[in-house]
Amino acid sequence: PWRTCQKRGCHVLRSLSWSRRLPVPSEQLFMEMAEVMATEGWRDAGYEFVCIDDCWMAPTRDRQGRLQADPKRVPSGIRRVAQVHSKGLKLGIYSDVGNKTCAGFPGSYNHYDLDAQTFSSWGVDLLKFDGCNSDTLELLAEGYRHMSLALNKTGRSIVYSCEWPLYLRPMQQPNYTEIKQYCNHWRNFHDVYDSWSSIKTILGWTALHQDTIVKIAGPGGWNDPDMLVIGNFGLSWDQAVTQMAMWAVMAAPLFMSNDLRHISPDAKWLLQNKEVIAINQDPLGKQGYQITKDMNFELWERPLSGQAYAVAVLNQQEIGGPRNFTFSLTLLGNGLACNPACSVRQVLPASRDWGFYSWVSSLSVEVNPTGTVLLKVVAP
Ligand code: GLA
Repeated sequence: PWRTCQKRGCHVLRSLSWSRRLPVPSEQLFMEMAEVMATEGWRDAGYEFVCIDDCWMAPTRDRQGRLQADPKRVPSGIRRVAQVHSKGLKLGIYSDVGNKTCAGFPGSYNHYDLDAQTFSSWGVDLLKFDGCNSDTLELLAEGYRHMSLALNKTGRSIVYSCEWPLYLRPMQQPNYTEIKQYCNHWRNFHDVYDSWSSIKTILGWTALHQDTIVKIAGPGGWNDPDMLVIGNFGLSWDQAVTQMAMWAVMAAPLFMSNDLRHISPDAKWLLQNKEVIAINQDPLGKQGYQITKDMNFELWERPLSGQAYAVAVLNQQEIGGPRNFTFSLTLLGNGLACNPACSVRQVLPASRDWGFYSWVSSLSVEVNPTGTVLLKVVAP
């Protein structure tokens, strides 16, 4: 039942207590965000998880050795936060395979079964399992396997979000076949930041490693390029369009890291855009890839169900104004996407039908600097 959980969006609240501009994670914040998700269209667009990231724990375990929530931040306990279920939402939590989390709170090492049972008893629906503070690569791998089996043993359906490959690199090539047996999605690369250079680096890494990572993605297991940062401070409109379009092409799990109580109508429109989310969630479950790179333009495609393709044209040139990229439709789908003809619809930055094209046609697309034009091409 991969559609039910693995790929639906997660609203993630990271620990941002070091910044004055951003709210400290607390029980009240999680509940307020859940309310906004249920009442302002987020849940209905598909974002059904409220995810707690690092720093939710008290500095020590309880007398029975169980993890416990920080009494100041989450005074009523995680079980109470799990009442987001009554709003039709699910709850995600965070732990770490090593002795400590990345921020220095208690990790799950030596407590995998107990922690899985604790999370399950609280009503948790997703576990993000970080990879800091593991002594050896062997312990890291054993820990990721062990926690997966421990979650299964609880009998509760819990999405398992890993960072296993990220922590293996650069010492060891990840065995993605094995990772997919244990994890529902996995981070390959560094943390996203609210900046264009971060988005650009993640896209560059993904294109560089596409021969290894694209083929493994599919129902049950996905590459996770990290969260959507749309709706914060760092991205221009064109860059926000690029993140949304490219995360759809990459079949990325959609986790937002932002403050939904204070979000612009434009960011909300983009994040709740049904056509883009439908591409992201396409039932064929194939990840897209870069076809060519030319004159600072990148052409990507993602095969979709119903003989369709998502096509993204990204303009990586940061200076100047909009530029035109012209390409032959024979480049798409190994020449088959538009054979003998296809309809073309622009999805982003605004929706518009472009009409029918024969397979020998070329398309000319105008793209803003650092922006993306996302098209859906369907063979009739
Ligand atoms: C690591 C993870 C991030 C985040 C932080 C929290 O860096 O990769 O996604 O969870 O830890 O400390």
